[in-house]
Amino acid sequence: MGTKRAAITGIHAWVPDYVLTNDELAALVDTSDDWITTRTGIKERRILKGHDQGTSVIGTAAVRGLLEKTATDPGEIDLLICATTTPDMLFPATGNIITNAVGAVNAFSYDLQAGCSGFLFALTTAAQYIASGYCRKVIVVGADKMSAIVDYQDRATCIIFGDGGGAVLLEPSTDGLGLRDALLRSDGAGEPHLHMKAGGSRRPPSITTLEAREHFVYQEGSTVFKFAVKNMAQVAYEIMARNGLAADDVAFLVPHQANKRIIDATAEKMGIGPEKVMLNIHKYGNTTSGTIPLCLHDYETQLRRGDHLVLAAFGAGFTWGAVYLQWAYDPI
Ligand code: UT7
Repeated sequence: MGTKRAAITGIHAWVPDYVLTNDELAALVDTSDDWITTRTGIKERRILKGHDQGTSVIGTAAVRGLLEKTATDPGEIDLLICATTTPDMLFPATGNIITNAVGAVNAFSYDLQAGCSGFLFALTTAAQYIASGYCRKVIVVGADKMSAIVDYQDRATCIIFGDGGGAVLLEPSTDGLGLRDALLRSDGAGEPHLHMKAGGSRRPPSITTLEAREHFVYQEGSTVFKFAVKNMAQVAYEIMARNGLAADDVAFLVPHQANKRIIDATAEKMGIGPEKVMLNIHKYGNTTSGTIPLCLHDYETQLRRGDHLVLAAFGAGFTWGAVYLQWAYDPI
């Protein structure tokens, strides 16, 4: 029997109905469809509207769909990890809210926060539980309601982010398919450049923090851009090299969707053409932990058993990483 690996055996994703277009944003802040499209590749993003609607709404819809699609009884799930930067509340974990909503009564669950690299960090963590034999069926959710923490008076950030997410089912595989390698990195020196100042224990919510608009994403765009281009491209390149993968071997790059120019730079460093790059930033913008599962879902019918995929991300922390996996199933 071969090495036990965690393989993705199903994927589902969900986005809210409301479409926020570039033109609508141009009515709120001093920007234009042309600027946003040429500088980021984004045309529109989805927004979760309504009171008391948190990230768990997105995660629950994705997980429900995943359970149905894979004909999995919720009671069979051993563990659910929810990667998110916008939990419903500081506690309890959004993962707990999702497991309760879908009836995953035998699962333990928790949240993992690693900015836009959250899905890759959670996927790698989940894979260890499977490889060790501790769990047999694990769900990894990547979901964010970025509209909850975006300042729609700040043109440098409100144009990028959107709401959405997806979920994958992981199961053991002994035929060589599944997660083969991961290269994860973090550097807390990134904190000044990308963060949300208030709402945590350092600066609890107060009239002062509200008036100073400190409950929104703060991002020094061009600094983050430079780190993202360099580091996301480097880890994607390195994971190929250390696994002996040539550009021709890679079926798809699955990149975090923050800015099309960062994605292009990563593909170029890997030596792969645009036809092998999963892209949906034009439809959804940057959904933080949601981008990679949303891509896998959109391209699911183009994936074949045995395909070599490189997943790559960069985000707040800073955090960044690449995962190399072999896809485990043909389109149904
Ligand atoms: O996903 C997690 C990590 N985040 C990222 O990876 C995001 C990385 N950063 C970016 O994608 C880009 O930096 C942005 C899209 C945020 C900004 O694009 P940029 O090309 O880096 O622009 P910039 O910040 O260097 O600003 C250039 C100019 C500035 O004007 P001046 O100072 O040259 O007059 C900005 O004020 O563009 C201006 N600007 C805008 N103009 C029209 C910034 N945002 C906008 C806007 N519309 N929305």
